[in-house]
Amino acid sequence: MIDLSTRYLGLDLKNPLVIASSGLTTTLQGVQNCANAGAGAIVLKSLFEEQINADVTALTNASVDFMHTEALEYLEGYGHACGPHEYLTLVRDAKQAVDVPIIASVNCITAERWADYAAQLAKAGADALEVNVGFLPNSADLTSAAVEERYAKILQTVKSRVDIPVALKIGPAFSSFRPLAQRLGTGPQAADALVLFNRFYRLDIDVKTLKVVAGNPYSSQDEIHTSLRWILLLAGKIDSDLAATTGIHDGQDVAKQLLAGASVAQLCSTIYRHGFVQIKTILAQLHEWMETHNFTRLDDFRGRLSQSNSEEPESYERLQYIKGLTGYE
Ligand SMILES: Cc1cc2nc3c(=O)[nH]c(=O)nc-3n(C[C@H](O)[C@H](O)[C@H](O)COP(=O)(O)O)c2cc1C
Repeated sequence: MIDLSTRYLGLDLKNPLVIASSGLTTTLQGVQNCANAGAGAIVLKSLFEEQINADVTALTNASVDFMHTEALEYLEGYGHACGPHEYLTLVRDAKQAVDVPIIASVNCITAERWADYAAQLAKAGADALEVNVGFLPNSADLTSAAVEERYAKILQTVKSRVDIPVALKIGPAFSSFRPLAQRLGTGPQAADALVLFNRFYRLDIDVKTLKVVAGNPYSSQDEIHTSLRWILLLAGKIDSDLAATTGIHDGQDVAKQLLAGASVAQLCSTIYRHGFVQIKTILAQLHEWMETHNFTRLDDFRGRLSQSNSEEPESYERLQYIKGLTGYE
């Protein structure tokens, strides 16, 4: 008898498939579709800090004029969540309608006023909060140290305002990710989970019209490697749970992330591509893979291939060794 249950963010999940924050989870119907197809947990579409602050200061919808350009681009590219009041209703309704954990999501660039709203999300019944730090450090005087400080401050502020678990979803573009992961993922103020890595809204150029346009919003399976590497390297070394996101498209991809040490795998593009039934398909693939290897529980193999559990930890980093393995010069 195969048991897919797992713990994530201190919650009991019936399986490790978490539906990523996206247009799939903007409505109650979307949430129900995910749950009916067997999701282990559901992250609601993100509310944007600017939406929350605009509401707090009682500005009307015309307040989009005040938004940061990159937030606006993200909104346009990824679609709007409903407003902050409706979002609380969505959390309440989702909790009533389905029996899987509901994780609210906020996309923020600062730790300012919106943090008070986080407490309301908890009151509305959210089982946890995922904080997606989504700013583009494109100012000439913003140093790496200041950027990292901002991440730590956001986490600290949110953790001090809510008593539900907090996951921090971040992108991969840091020059020295290990110390940052250590800082965000250890000690009393640690994130309850790090979600690695966000796939930010992409830009492209249309060479026919000579215009900057939206890039492909959906990942390919080949994009799994960045998060896979960092989960291999971090598992067992920090206190936070690790959630994998980007490029996870089938049951084998989920197995890889669990072998690396992830607590859960978040799914998005593959569901856009194949429909909600893909959740069922991936569960069946994971089940079958476990059967083939005589695993009955996720803990039979979770983290087995992480650097922490390796007898040759240097092989995860030494370029020559990797060249030797791949045969590439
Ligand atoms: C249409 C669309 C909307 C998204 N909206 C959000 C969002 O509001 N908040 C967020 O944290 N991530 C958002 N994402 C990112 C996904 O949650 C996910 O991290 C990313 O797509 C990588 O996973 P994938 O390779 O499975 O697609 C969105 C992705 C897509 C495709």
